[in-house]
Amino acid sequence: MERTLIILKPDTIQRRLIGRVLQRFEDKGLGIAGMKLMHIERSLAETHYAPHKERPFYPGLINYITSGPVVVLCLQGNRCIDIARKVMGQTFGFEADPGTIRGDFGASRSFNLVHGSDSPEAAASEIALYFTDGELLDYAPAGSDWVFPQDDS
Ligand code: RTP
Ligand code: MG
Repeated sequence: MERTLIILKPDTIQRRLIGRVLQRFEDKGLGIAGMKLMHIERSLAETHYAPHKERPFYPGLINYITSGPVVVLCLQGNRCIDIARKVMGQTFGFEADPGTIRGDFGASRSFNLVHGSDSPEAAASEIALYFTDGELLDYAPAGSDWVFPQDDS
C-alpha cells in the first residue's frame, strides 16, 4: 500500500473545516495510518519547503504554514499519492475544479487549505519529517477490499 503526507493547513483549522476536508479523503476510501494536531516550527517548515526556497512566495509560505495549528495525516491506499492530489485539486482555489477540496472551499493563491506529497520520493521524506515509525499504524479499515480489490491493476 502506498502512503502520502497530507497537511490540513492553518486556514482549514481556523475556518473549522477539519471534519469536512478529512471527510473528502475518507469518502474516497483512503485509510488513515497516522494523524496529529501540531504547530509546525519554523525550522521544520523550512526543511519541508526547501525545494521552494528561491521562489518569491517562499517567505509568505513559511509564515502561513507556521501561523497556527495544523493537522498532519499519513494516508494510505493504492495510488494514494495521485488520488489525494486529485481530491485536493489545482494549487490555487480560484483555478481548482468544483468537487475538489480547493475548488469547493478555496478562493486564494496561497491559502489553499491542504498540502499533499507530489511524488513517492517526496512522500517518503515528508512522512519521515512528521512521523516516527511507531506513530504509523498498518491496518485495513473494514471494507478496504471493496475499495482496493486484490486483482486491481
Ligand atoms: P502543496 O505543496 O502545499 O501540496 O501545494 P502544491 O503542490 O499544489 O503547490 P506548490 O507549487 O508545491 O506550492 C506550495 C505552496 O505554496 C503556496 N504558493 N503560493 N503566492 C503564490 O504564487 C504561491 N504559489 C504557491 C501554496 O500554499 C502552495 O500550496
Ligand atoms: Mg507541492
